[in-house]
Amino acid sequence: MNCGWISWDRAARRSGPPSPGPDRVAPPHGRPGYGATPMRQLWPEPVADADPVELYASDHRPAGDRPWVLANMIASVDGAATDLTGRSGGLGGPADKRVFAAIRGVADVVMAGAGTVTAEDYGPSRPSEAVRRARLARGQAAVPRIAVVSAALSISPDQRLFREASPDARPVVLTVEAADPERRRALAEVAEVHSAGETRVDWPRALAVLRDRLGARVVLCEGGPTTIAGLVAAGLLDEMCLTVAPTLQTGAAPRVSDGPAPPAARAMALARVLTEDGYLFLRYVARDAGTGGGS
Ligand SMILES: NC(=O)c1ccc[n+]([C@@H]2O[C@H](COP(=O)([O-])OP(=O)(O)OC[C@H]3O[C@@H](n4cnc5c(N)ncnc54)[C@H](OP(=O)(O)O)[C@@H]3O)[C@@H](O)[C@H]2O)c1
Repeated sequence: MNCGWISWDRAARRSGPPSPGPDRVAPPHGRPGYGATPMRQLWPEPVADADPVELYASDHRPAGDRPWVLANMIASVDGAATDLTGRSGGLGGPADKRVFAAIRGVADVVMAGAGTVTAEDYGPSRPSEAVRRARLARGQAAVPRIAVVSAALSISPDQRLFREASPDARPVVLTVEAADPERRRALAEVAEVHSAGETRVDWPRALAVLRDRLGARVVLCEGGPTTIAGLVAAGLLDEMCLTVAPTLQTGAAPRVSDGPAPPAARAMALARVLTEDGYLFLRYVARDAGTGGGS
């Protein structure tokens, strides 16, 4: 993903110049926003030069009585969801940034836990002009809304996400009825604040809020591991986009989904595999997706 597409977030954390390895000396094709090597699709059928923006936008994501919920996470080969500094930045690379932006391109709402928004210093979403046009043509807002999940409301109203937000994409805070009223008032100055639970955000309620108040049909959760685990436990994660980064970490890093296990595992079907620069971009869809599981 090209840094110019988005100037913030996990992708920005993963920025830094592409390493000029032997296969990166000259872009083999001239499309703007593309890396030095072509992205290849390995599954369901081989495609020599795959365009992630087109691919993720053409996927079927039926919204039933609740929005479709997908996640996009990155992990090392040995399953670490953070690098040795405790963030996801060191796991990424230029190809990952492109896929990250492509997946964002399909979301009505980008949702993240307070831990991620703070650790990764989230800012507003800034899709490329091409992605904006495609979104408008599909009937979506030009820019996805960003929703932060927090019961404690310890996120500061001065955070970049709020400070730099544009009026047409006001950030959203999903919180609880028991939240501190002072903190809630302060955040309501800079964001749309909604309750979706007594003491913890209840995921079916949160999705209903995003659907009813924001018209969301596709909700993308960008983590972190605690938030993903909550969605998995509630049986609400329909699609998992997992980037496997070509690195070994070991250490005490969390998994991409890290929390109490649900009563039963949810069966996932492999829908697509892309690769570039040793990264794998896996798209899995729940076998029972679209049946309203968990809601
Ligand atoms: N590998 C990747 O792709 C990836 C992606 C994102 C983040 N990360 C990394 O993951 C780390 C953060 O992990 P994390 O698990 O702590 O982050 P997280 O899931 O982003 O944040 C956890 C916080 O979200 C809020 N939250 C989540 N579920 C809630 C619920 N049901 N009700 C109320 N509040 C809820 C709580 O905030 P309050 O405490 O404010 O109530 C909770 O403490 C960072 O190091 C980040 O870099 C990795």
